[in-house]
Amino acid sequence: MPDIYQTLDQQGAETVRAVADRLEFRGEMADFVKMRERYFDQLDWAGCRRVVDLGCGTGVVTRALADRVGVECELVGSDLAAELIKVAEEKTQAAGLAGRIRYEVADSRKTRDADDSFDIVIAHTVISHVADPAAMLAETARLARPGGMIAIFDGDYASLTIGAGDPEANAEAVDAILQTVVGNPFVLRHLPFLARNAGLEIAGFIPELLAEAGETAFFGNMIDAYIGPSIQAGAIDAQTAEHWAEGQKTAAREGTFFGSCNYYTYLLRKPE
Ligand SMILES: C[S@@+](CC[C@H](N)C(=O)[O-])C[C@H]1O[C@@H](n2cnc3c(N)ncnc32)[C@H](O)[C@@H]1O
Repeated sequence: MPDIYQTLDQQGAETVRAVADRLEFRGEMADFVKMRERYFDQLDWAGCRRVVDLGCGTGVVTRALADRVGVECELVGSDLAAELIKVAEEKTQAAGLAGRIRYEVADSRKTRDADDSFDIVIAHTVISHVADPAAMLAETARLARPGGMIAIFDGDYASLTIGAGDPEANAEAVDAILQTVVGNPFVLRHLPFLARNAGLEIAGFIPELLAEAGETAFFGNMIDAYIGPSIQAGAIDAQTAEHWAEGQKTAAREGTFFGSCNYYTYLLRKPE
């Protein structure tokens, strides 16, 4: 079953809206912002002439990049989903950044940009969704200039845990969400191998943990956004899914919720 992020053009408006809302909510969340800023802080933005955000979605990270680079830097956001690029353009306009970012619909496995054309290539929670992550990494290696940097940030979604109650019911629901929205839940564990094959050096590695105990914002919103699409995709039956999701809401209200997931940033360098 393909990850819905690979097939947004075939999803209904309701699913696209749920995905767009999720991406914006998540991208503005303090814990998620901290992880982004930690790896942004490791990159040398001074003198950047061209930066690309591959799989930019609604542009929540691309807009944050505009704070890091000078106005002379060309900032590009690209995504496979035309529907999300439209949202990105609207949000960029509303943020007063219309002239600063150029958006385009493009497949991160095969863009139209020239070899060696970017100082920094960003892929923020993209590689876990792309069909053929090796092809995408090879494309990032082609796009970066010699000595340029590639930041791959994503969830190690195979480590995703939600719920403190019945472990089997929790695992069934989490598996259904992963089947529906994460095509490559193990890919970050293969990144050292994939990077070596793409001719990239690991210049930095930042392990992160996002966990919530008692109350929830991040994982509760994840359930709200993805349980419906999981039912629609046939990954779980509606009654089981709704019962489980309601149980998580009750746990959150009662202060007994639990959720956690590892996130990693790989900072890869293209050799000179
Ligand atoms: C979880 S979203 C992340 C969006 C954004 N980077 C963020 O952090 O908010 C994954 C994105 O990857 C995009 N995507 C999936 N496969 C792609 C591909 N082959 N080429 C370009 N974008 C792709 C989806 O359309 C979606 O916007």
